[in-house]
Amino acid sequence: MTDDDGRRTPATTLAIEPMTAEDLSEVVEMEQVSFATPWQKQDFDRALAQPGGLCRVARQGDALVGYAVGYRVQEEYHLTDLAIHPELRGRGLGGALVDVLLGELSGLGVRVVSLEVRASNDPATRLYKRRGFQTIAVRRDYYREPTENAVVMLKPMEGSLSDYIARAHPSCDTP
Ligand SMILES: CC(C)(COP(=O)(O)OP(=O)(O)OC[C@H]1O[C@@H](n2cnc3c(N)ncnc32)[C@H](O)[C@@H]1OP(=O)(O)O)[C@@H](O)C(=O)NCCC(=O)NCCS
Repeated sequence: MTDDDGRRTPATTLAIEPMTAEDLSEVVEMEQVSFATPWQKQDFDRALAQPGGLCRVARQGDALVGYAVGYRVQEEYHLTDLAIHPELRGRGLGGALVDVLLGELSGLGVRVVSLEVRASNDPATRLYKRRGFQTIAVRRDYYREPTENAVVMLKPMEGSLSDYIARAHPSCDTP
């Protein structure tokens, strides 16, 4: 399905809701089929209990179609986990989930969003770049199975990345 500008849109309205302990059996199942080194249930328990934790599930009707996990530290939100059901990828659902999340973070006063992504993960990288994330660093051999570099990306919620860095770390400007 496409909108008037020809962009793909999810076929059914997505409901984005806070992740709760009741979601975790479905979330863990989706995690297992989404990552080579998946998080276990206790990792999600920790994420839900973490101070500043902000974790969301995406549902179409009753069906879990994806989730996003992360936490806030002061003005930054770090996105630690994101997945869409393997059979539903490439339909704009991941983009829609991230768009709702970014809107919510903006309303909470978050000024920058950070994440790491496998260097070879083209779908995720495209999704992030389209939404204004920029590469700021590479962490060598960060991932296992297979060993691979992580690309570190940042998205300022307003203005340019250089403006954000100059505001957040004014001493960086002075020699
Ligand atoms: C990354 C992920 C969440 C994206 O979800 P999605 O619903 O497929 O995302 P979208 O449909 O919104 O597509 C996002 C972009 O990826 C592109 N894309 C989709 N499948 C692709 C593929 N196989 N190869 C290259 N690009 C692809 C889309 O074209 C889109 O780019 P565009 O907006 O420029 O057209 C999903 O692929 C996923 O769950 N992957 C496994 C877990 C993972 O890697 N998570 C990210 C961790 S950082």
